[in-house]
Amino acid sequence: MTRFATRFGAFEIDSLPGQCQVAVCHSFVVPEDHRGNGHGHHLKAEQEALLDHHHYDFAVCTVAAGNERQKRILEKSGWRHLANFRNRRSCETTELWCRGATPSTTEDSHHE
Ligand SMILES: CC(C)(COP(=O)(O)OP(=O)(O)OC[C@H]1O[C@@H](n2cnc3c(N)ncnc32)[C@H](O)[C@@H]1OP(=O)(O)O)[C@@H](O)C(=O)NCCC(=O)NCCS
Repeated sequence: MTRFATRFGAFEIDSLPGQCQVAVCHSFVVPEDHRGNGHGHHLKAEQEALLDHHHYDFAVCTVAAGNERQKRILEKSGWRHLANFRNRRSCETTELWCRGATPSTTEDSHHE
């Protein structure tokens, strides 16, 4: 597990069990009294740099469907929405997003 934390925010990264080229990004937070000042974007840039530094090929995270701020941060840093599911713990829709995926071509799938 990699932990990044300053007084303006924090996040954690784990490798997916069984597939260590996939990063699972979670616990991304900016303290309430610092929100709305761009720290979310800066924190995301730190996360991007760490994903590159550790040579991950792919990364995933989840976000509540109604979390427009976090979705804006994800979009701006080039992440892509992958899927939605109905979350029985939060009783909300949860979205799955990814970084690093390229649409697979017929040629790719023949070589896999
Ligand atoms: C989500 C979170 C990290 C955002 O941090 P932040 O420092 O407030 O974010 P920023 O100031 O960098 O702003 C992010 C973007 O959201 C946009 N935004 C703000 N309020 C918004 C709203 N109501 N609807 C849509 N976009 C909004 C901002 O305009 C900004 O985009 P822009 O700079 O391109 O215009 C912070 O709110 C947080 O910690 N929330 C609780 C924990 C959480 O939800 N973590 C994510 C778990 S997946």
